[in-house]
Amino acid sequence: MSESEHKGEGKGKSILIVEDETVLRESLAQLLGEEGYQTVEAADGATAHQMILRQPFNLVLSDVRMPQMDGMTLLGLIRQAAPETPVILITAFGTVANAVAAMRAGAFDYLLKPVQFDDLLIKIDRALRTTEVTRVNKVVTEQLASASAFYNLVGRSPRMLRLFELVRKLAPVKSTVLIVGESGTGKELFARAIHYNGPFRNKPFVPVNCGAIPDTLIESELFGYRRGAFTGASRDKVGYFEAANGGTLFLDEIAALPMLVQTSLLRVLDEKKVTPVGDTQARPIDVRIIAASNRDLGKMVESGEFREDVHYRLNVVKLDLPPLRNRREDIPLLVHHFLDKYSREMNRELRGITNGAMAALLNHEWRGNIRELENVIERAVIFAEGRMISCEDLPFTSPQSVDDAGEDLKEALRQFERQHIIYGLRRHHYDKVETAKHLGIGISSLYRKLDELDIPKNLEEEQLSNDWSSGETDGPRLDNGPTP
Ligand SMILES: Nc1ncnc2c1ncn2[C@@H]1O[C@H](COP(=O)(O)OP(=O)(O)OP(=O)(O)O)[C@@H](O)[C@H]1O
Ligand SMILES: [Mg+2]
Repeated sequence: MSESEHKGEGKGKSILIVEDETVLRESLAQLLGEEGYQTVEAADGATAHQMILRQPFNLVLSDVRMPQMDGMTLLGLIRQAAPETPVILITAFGTVANAVAAMRAGAFDYLLKPVQFDDLLIKIDRALRTTEVTRVNKVVTEQLASASAFYNLVGRSPRMLRLFELVRKLAPVKSTVLIVGESGTGKELFARAIHYNGPFRNKPFVPVNCGAIPDTLIESELFGYRRGAFTGASRDKVGYFEAANGGTLFLDEIAALPMLVQTSLLRVLDEKKVTPVGDTQARPIDVRIIAASNRDLGKMVESGEFREDVHYRLNVVKLDLPPLRNRREDIPLLVHHFLDKYSREMNRELRGITNGAMAALLNHEWRGNIRELENVIERAVIFAEGRMISCEDLPFTSPQSVDDAGEDLKEALRQFERQHIIYGLRRHHYDKVETAKHLGIGISSLYRKLDELDIPKNLEEEQLSNDWSSGETDGPRLDNGPTP
């Protein structure tokens, strides 16, 4: 045996070549080396087995008929020692029956002698890619099942894990928490996680959107009022603070709170008492406050839009939720999480997502953060025609990569053209005139293309009937509190 490393395209994957015929073995090593693989050679099965026990390989390429230990026996040993390593067997003409047996015994693929080098490369590439996808999916599934899914919170980036740790520490105490982050980064979900992980999870969690209540009503909504406090106050009303007693009050969009109300809030935070509008008696309250904002309160303090003392009291512990584009390593996990969620909800058996589509998701800007990602996946689950989510199912991808077109150039071009036209149609709301204009072709050419490329002319209707534009996916969706 000899070890040889060749410089090439730098794919860097290691391949163990097991072949007793020296000339064939060495020429395979040289050719694969030129393709950028790192090759290691073994002249017989026993040596190969020893090597596999000592170091991992990305793939094993083995002859079937060899003197001492044959390829089939070796295959059995590899399945035990390194079950994830794909094995491709090389067999002489006449022994196709062996090849079939080899596949049954767990070989990934087989090649017939004389070895066609092109064929070999395709098979190696396919084996490596399949193994990689399987591996990634397995890791993702394991992570989903483990601590990385913290209640409904999914993430595995270091920043997210640190935030989960904070949630764990904050849940049992009643300290005020300020959660900041762009829209759709999970502020409300974090607030709920803090509440529902704590000992008061059976007490109320009361979300209040400060930005959605008219200024004139906000004080009475928050603190309640007594009968007769103002025109129309025909009976006592309990405010949100009292409604949340014993539990958590979630003050969302706190930046929208008018200055005057901020002053009242300051008093409540200091005294832990509320006085309903029109009342003289303050009532003690025991409420944990979680405030959230997608605006920078510090800057608002500087510009005089937010009270410094209120900011100071809210900002006891701050959770700063990072935008999705700064923690792309969480994207695959989230994609699988939402795929799972929506295929279950919609009763669709989807097997996963193509590499091309995942790449597009990884590269997207995600201005709307996790909410946008969730909506994209929900729509893709509705859209998907095959068993996998593909680029075509994503609303924003112009298909730079074509999924599974195989090697045939014409077919790849055809698929690219098809996806590009569908993308154009979606972009221009199925307006064919507008689409043709942007594609730079005439309207009759567009119609011809739709025919040639099997694109339904009523694509829009098909999607409408799939509830594509029901509109509900655009608004914020609140999860019910996670079940403790
Ligand atoms: N870490 C996460 N894991 C799983 N789902 C998440 C995560 N973060 C957010 N989501 C989901 O993303 C959506 C948006 O989250 P949420 O409503 O909490 O964001 P937000 O920061 O409050 O947004 P906004 O500022 O627009 O109110 C929700 O459907 C939520 O369930
Ligand atoms: Mg929110």
